[in-house]
Amino acid sequence: MSKILITGGTGNLGKSLVRVLEENNVQYTIASRQNRAGKQNVVVIDLLENKGIKEAVSGKEIIFHLATDLKRDTEATQNLLGAIDPNSKVHLIYISVVGTDKVPFAYYRQKLGSEEAVKRSGIPYTILRATQFHEFIDQILSTFLKYPIGLLPKRILLQPIETAIVAEKLYRLSLDGASNKTYEIGGAEVHTLEELAKQWMIQKNKKRFVLNLPIWGTLGKTFRNGSLTTQNSKKESSSWREWLKENNRQD
Ligand SMILES: NC(=O)c1ccc[n+]([C@@H]2O[C@H](COP(=O)([O-])OP(=O)(O)OC[C@H]3O[C@@H](n4cnc5c(N)ncnc54)[C@H](OP(=O)(O)O)[C@@H]3O)[C@@H](O)[C@H]2O)c1
Repeated sequence: MSKILITGGTGNLGKSLVRVLEENNVQYTIASRQNRAGKQNVVVIDLLENKGIKEAVSGKEIIFHLATDLKRDTEATQNLLGAIDPNSKVHLIYISVVGTDKVPFAYYRQKLGSEEAVKRSGIPYTILRATQFHEFIDQILSTFLKYPIGLLPKRILLQPIETAIVAEKLYRLSLDGASNKTYEIGGAEVHTLEELAKQWMIQKNKKRFVLNLPIWGTLGKTFRNGSLTTQNSKKESSSWREWLKENNRQD
């Protein structure tokens, strides 16, 4: 039986972590809401329905907690923590987002609530806050710029990162053991969303008329002042332009 559990192992970051573990010949179990293919190393859990969690965490030494819920992330994390035996000496590695403590976004409050629950739990932990993944920026631009005229929030500073680099860092943290600390990791370059959108349109050969919407108040201020970026940038991460070239899907 593997000693490693990955919640969210089917997601974007989870898939990259699985690749890193396999490259290092490390056995793992994925916790997912479904196991349609009947894979041996997948256990079915639901962090919100509180189903299957106790069985999934039993006997594990390292839990990478990557699963997320946009509206109820804190509750999902609390359910996970509640199922872990505090005497089990498990190392819980939680992935969060750079800026959770600064940006007044409902999702970020959820992530911060999860971080606080992890810290309070008494379970040995390490928290890694990452900047936005390339896949996520691609997803939001595909939504905002779906039609010939698109709306984009103005002057948000972003530092997109490759999930492979975040996954490698998570693996390294698991080897180091629990530090009970919070670390940050960010991509190689900082750009405004407008700049990222320009590259996106060039690479995908899409012509869009973009209206830039100013965001007022504290939210806008944190977007513009670099609250979503970190000094701890990983130069080895592919840049947005490089990632787009490598993943040039014309959708
Ligand atoms: N996206 C970004 O730019 C970014 C940046 C920094 C940090 N992060 C953090 O990194 C983590 C992974 O993000 P991602 O973009 O890779 O996620 P993702 O692709 O959206 O995947 C979400 C994962 O959560 C699992 N999940 C959702 N609800 C669940 C539930 N009720 N019970 C059990 N599992 C559930 C899903 O598993 P199944 O569908 O298989 O059940 C899926 O594997 C998140 O914690 C996120 O906050 C993301």
